[in-house]
Amino acid sequence: MGAGKTTVGRLLAARLGWPFVDLDAVVEKAAGMTIPAIFEREGEDGFRRRETEAVRAVTAHAGQVIATGGGTVMRRENLALLRATGTLVWLRAPLEVLLARARAEGGRPLLAEGDDAAAKRYAARVSVYALADVVVDATQAPDAVAAEIEARLSGAQLEPPEMVPVPAGSRSYAVHVGAELLASSGRLAREVGLGGKALVVTNPTVGAHYATPLMNGLAAAGFSVHRVDIPDGEEHKTLASAERIYRAAVAARLERRDFFVALGGGVVGDAAGFAAATYLRGVDVVQVPTTLLAQVDASVGGKVGVNLAEGKNLVGAFHQPRLVVADVAVLATLPQRELVAGLAEVIKYGAIADPHLLAFLEDRLDDIVQRRLPVLARVVARSCEIKARVVAADERETRGVREVLNFGHTIGHAIEALTGYRRYLHGEAVAIGMVSAALLAQRMGRLAGTEVERLIRLLRRAGLPTTPPPLDETALLAVLQRDKKVRDGRLRFVLLDGLGQAFVTGEVPSQWIKDVLLEQRAL
Ligand SMILES: NC(=O)c1ccc[n+]([C@@H]2O[C@H](COP(=O)([O-])OP(=O)(O)OC[C@H]3O[C@@H](n4cnc5c(N)ncnc54)[C@H](O)[C@@H]3O)[C@@H](O)[C@H]2O)c1
Ligand SMILES: [Zn+2]
Repeated sequence: MGAGKTTVGRLLAARLGWPFVDLDAVVEKAAGMTIPAIFEREGEDGFRRRETEAVRAVTAHAGQVIATGGGTVMRRENLALLRATGTLVWLRAPLEVLLARARAEGGRPLLAEGDDAAAKRYAARVSVYALADVVVDATQAPDAVAAEIEARLSGAQLEPPEMVPVPAGSRSYAVHVGAELLASSGRLAREVGLGGKALVVTNPTVGAHYATPLMNGLAAAGFSVHRVDIPDGEEHKTLASAERIYRAAVAARLERRDFFVALGGGVVGDAAGFAAATYLRGVDVVQVPTTLLAQVDASVGGKVGVNLAEGKNLVGAFHQPRLVVADVAVLATLPQRELVAGLAEVIKYGAIADPHLLAFLEDRLDDIVQRRLPVLARVVARSCEIKARVVAADERETRGVREVLNFGHTIGHAIEALTGYRRYLHGEAVAIGMVSAALLAQRMGRLAGTEVERLIRLLRRAGLPTTPPPLDETALLAVLQRDKKVRDGRLRFVLLDGLGQAFVTGEVPSQWIKDVLLEQRAL
């Protein structure tokens, strides 16, 4: 619809030396009539059926530039075929620009419905378009657009960073997602008005790789930069580590207007965030998450804290960061098992809120596991959007909205606890818990068997466990009863109402949990 895909498509084809194919023209040729005529005689259904046939035909060959219709990728089958054959490009332009252009061109049957309906349709489509492999600004001149696509395809030009806003009233902030952003952190910190001294909190593992570029970037932006390391590992997410951070801050004479920068995974983020929330009754913190889990989850939402010997996260605060810098390039050094565990939380977001993200994960899983940066950036940005949306609706976790983020976590946490937090990484236990929850939803008649299978297949392809270890179901139920997920003595579960939609229920009988775990063990 008015994005200029025919003009840009032809120009790009000429640059690449490839043939140009217009999907609408393929449909018209096969039907022996124009698209308005197809709509008139066969309705939109008839057109969509013919369109899928055309997609199947054109995707039989690689090495061509294909201009699709605006609605083509809204069909799962078309999208999967196109993604399997090639690279999807979104020519992004604001709706007003598209409508103005389309009006000038005329002849689009779907435009007859008026601007309101067009706006609704555009919003629905953007949720799929935004998951294209390449996104370009289509308000530029067509030749500039074609040149930019060519540069992106060849890898000569990086995808520009995406900025995800996290609404939190006067403490709203943004997550910047992209490749090679570490060095820009200083500039970004300046842009949000930070000044003075920066205390970088990291650990030796992460610091060895990334402290230097980050600190150089901060120094280049005029900050006076200090560093403190806490030991690596969940067992060091403690008050002792917080104390170490406080004392380094005192030694560097940090004052109220200065700030901390948390460079690391969720452990560093939580501990440094907690220290920031409490040092001098609160200083600013910039989160620079370096694990996939921290980029999609821990760094966004403002929950910070440390563990006690008696339990995890028992001491904490809500302290929103001023800025989050998620540089997907740092994921290159993350151990594979950690990457995959982080992916469990991404799959969770798809399952509770975003069927398009799930489809993207299904189609692009190999690229994610191989850490192709633009694909990782899409995944991180989309996950942060979802978390931001949920958190904005329930910033301090008082309204129950945030509870949906616990999908897979009820049984997941119990499994982690019963295996002494040693056997599974958090994301792995959550993967098992998501399957349990899906099976419970199926029992409740809210999720189809085919949907449960789809979820299991995706988790397994990602390399995540889906069956529980041998453990005593009665002990597991006892852990669940002790868990904070019990309200008025009833177990509360986040279940799915179809893939992409979550709901919370207190209606799960304990016997079902035992049954489901048995069923799951046999999968
Ligand atoms: N605050 C929240 O909302 C929230 C949400 C989810 C989890 N968490 C917390 O996050 C913690 C788990 O975080 P995590 O999974 O990131 O674990 P982590 O911080 O322990 O990091 C995992 C391991 O990877 C290493 N590492 C980190 N980045 C690396 C990189 N780029 N290259 C190489 N190695 C790297 C770390 O040093 C560590 O050994 C838990 O304590 C959990 O409670 C908090
Ligand atoms: Zn989690």
